[in-house]
Amino acid sequence: MTSAPLRFGLVGTGYWARIAHAPALASTEGIELAGVWGRDRQAAFTLAAEYGAASYADIEALLAAVDAVAFAVPPDVQAPIAAAAARAGKHLMLEKPIAIAEAEADELVAAVDEGQVASVVFFILRFRAEMRAWLADVTARGGWAGGLTSWFGSSLLETSPFNTPWRRDKGALWDIAPHVVSLLWAALGPVTSVTADAGPVDVSHLILHHEGGASSTMTVSQNGGEAAAGFEAYLWSDRGRSAAPPMTPDPVPPLSTALSELVANIRSGRTEHPCDVRFGRDVGHVVAEAQRQIDQRRA
Ligand SMILES: NC(=O)c1ccc[n+]([C@@H]2O[C@H](COP(=O)([O-])OP(=O)(O)OC[C@H]3O[C@@H](n4cnc5c(N)ncnc54)[C@H](OP(=O)(O)O)[C@@H]3O)[C@@H](O)[C@H]2O)c1
Repeated sequence: MTSAPLRFGLVGTGYWARIAHAPALASTEGIELAGVWGRDRQAAFTLAAEYGAASYADIEALLAAVDAVAFAVPPDVQAPIAAAAARAGKHLMLEKPIAIAEAEADELVAAVDEGQVASVVFFILRFRAEMRAWLADVTARGGWAGGLTSWFGSSLLETSPFNTPWRRDKGALWDIAPHVVSLLWAALGPVTSVTADAGPVDVSHLILHHEGGASSTMTVSQNGGEAAAGFEAYLWSDRGRSAAPPMTPDPVPPLSTALSELVANIRSGRTEHPCDVRFGRDVGHVVAEAQRQIDQRRA
């Protein structure tokens, strides 16, 4: 006997909701995209209608109508809504970073624990099939001394659909570094400390130490310009290097994987996932500490 699909609500109607969350929700087995809420009622209506879903003017009404919620809103908007949803017993497909303020991240974790709901954070690199194969290989081999990573995006170009207010405000440190921290954490072990500095035009440099003794570096920018855009990562040891696979552009397959894993956890009553809200909070601590150090150096 197959069970009825889980009803998901989508919070947010921007570019990312349209190109990633809505199509992934609509195409993932075991999920019905049941409703959409956005502060722009017309945008919510249009997006919902495209998928035969209902649009809601009121976030509480959306929450009452669904089993789970997927978020595509800025982190400081996501955190309080997600906490209210968790307390109402709704499972969470979250975006990174899970919050900006650490107190709000802690509050969200407390709400998830209280509501005993399942959660997954969409650290996209952790859900790409080829990256998972690489991680499985490098972690099986072990013994790495360290890692080097860089990710230059071009989201702050005038013409980019990702040139959005929160990203202009928080930059690559909050937008890109969470992805890279989540990857290095999985490859080299839990992060135990971070040292950070920044350049003048949205470029941040982080040095991480990992449990077990490895260390790694990352440089992230959303202002590198299109010509310099790209992602590179490799691990090294006295046996040589292992390079991570290149980035692939389509976000729907990895998001569909994340959603499928969330659904499997909901069905089996499991609330833990390697990329759950607690991991999201831990990654956020690293980023927040990096921000503190950068602010101090600037001051
Ligand atoms: N995992 C990934 O690879 C990946 C990639 C891209 C984005 N993201 C994540 O997706 C999230 C959204 O980012 P974005 O740049 O798309 O954000 P955005 O365009 O600024 O906002 C997305 C949506 O949030 C709404 N919104 C903005 N401020 C709001 C507020 N104060 N109250 C209610 N709604 C509000 C916007 O409404 P309006 O349309 O009315 O402005 C829009 O519907 C972020 O967490 C980001 O990290 C993740």
